[in-house]
Amino acid sequence: MPEKFSSEKPWGGRFNAPTDAFVEAFTASVGFDRRLYAHDIQGSIAHARMLARQGVLGREDAERIEAGLEAIRKRIEAGEFPWSVGLEDVHMNIEAALTAEIGELGKRLHTGRSRNDQVATDIRLWLRDEIGTIRAGIRRLQGALVDLAEAEADTVMPGFTHLQTAQPVTFGHHLLAWFEMLERDHERLGDCRRRLNVMPLGAAALAGTSFPIDRAYTAELLGFDRPAENSLDAVSDRDFAIEFLAAAAILMMHLSRFSEELVLWVSAQFGFVELADAFCTGSSIMPQKKNPDVPELIRGKSGRVFGHLFALLTLMKGQPLAYNKDNQEDKEPLFDTVDTLEGCLKVFADLIPTLRPDREAMRAAARRGYSTATDLADYLVRKGLPFRDAHEAVGRAVAYAIAQGRDLEALSVEELRRFSDLIETDVFAVLTLEGSVAARDHLGGTAPNQVRAAVARARRRMGGESA
Ligand code: ARG
Repeated sequence: MPEKFSSEKPWGGRFNAPTDAFVEAFTASVGFDRRLYAHDIQGSIAHARMLARQGVLGREDAERIEAGLEAIRKRIEAGEFPWSVGLEDVHMNIEAALTAEIGELGKRLHTGRSRNDQVATDIRLWLRDEIGTIRAGIRRLQGALVDLAEAEADTVMPGFTHLQTAQPVTFGHHLLAWFEMLERDHERLGDCRRRLNVMPLGAAALAGTSFPIDRAYTAELLGFDRPAENSLDAVSDRDFAIEFLAAAAILMMHLSRFSEELVLWVSAQFGFVELADAFCTGSSIMPQKKNPDVPELIRGKSGRVFGHLFALLTLMKGQPLAYNKDNQEDKEPLFDTVDTLEGCLKVFADLIPTLRPDREAMRAAARRGYSTATDLADYLVRKGLPFRDAHEAVGRAVAYAIAQGRDLEALSVEELRRFSDLIETDVFAVLTLEGSVAARDHLGGTAPNQVRAAVARARRRMGGESA
């Protein structure tokens, strides 16, 4: 029997030769999964308490393990923890440190558990917290939008379809459309959290454990709704991560759309709003430039989050049950997505209250595009004309106005009557921008008083539940 080499690795017993140095670094995850340390310790403490309650560990032993883990937590938070690539991942680093801290007893913590159920538990605990932070970030952005919508309830701007001026809308109404998109994101993440909140611990490596564990108790300690039903599924399931990334991708798609509108609106061609200097940068060559970098960057960052969703779908699609090392690749996409979302939500919520709308420019733009043509058609319908005929008549009136280089409301009654003799002087009330928006006075419509009512409802909806 050759002399046994000494390995620091908890799994070194079966091995006769040390790991290749490059392979060691290649397979290690501690460089990034150390981020899970707090949740790893949280899970370990609950596991130790459960083992003690079940008589698998002595009570005092469990208490010493807990104290040791708390000491390690402090050392990590003080930046004094010696992370070792040789110890592969966050789990083995902490376990080895525990044994160094409290002696041989540290080695008993891993009874009835495996890194496979441990890591699946850690990610769920961590993501659950991050979802809470992201949902609070969504609420903060929604609050900023609602405040601005209230202030701009009467501000008229052009509404677009095909990016062509369509009908006048109020700026407040437009901002509340953003609010609704975010409301669905908030809900989706809440839904994701509900399905995530199931505990893998107890599945051990894949088949469960021969120790008399009480999974319901551990689940209760960790705030999980219940233990996962099937041990094979528990260690291999990453659906919750994919669901989260899908919800994140949709949220980023929304933030990207808002950003695109801001980029358009701040351009000289639109001139609808001005961004505060604090959210822009200049050009090193063109002295006049004030670039909307923040919205542009958010629009750009949507790409990496979409990519992460695809990365995880692809990661999972070929995996047989149960745990495979492939799963170690689930963490970086999740970490980057969480950082991206939290950053984008924060900067957007900070930016919104600093927006300076140019009400005159919005109004002028709404007038330029014959945006009240539909109102004229509706007017003719109310006077008895079928809508299709009204559409035709107004179309000809618009062509005439374009040829004249004038707005519809600048035409005289005599000129307008060339297109329909149903037109009388009362037509001007419907051709004004204010008349047009005020007329859309029903739930979901753009009328200023509907915007104010929607603002009040939005505030109630946000207050109705905690993030
Ligand atoms: N670092 C691993 C991961 O992220 C932990 C689980 C390792 N389990 C194993 N049997 N190698 O997935």
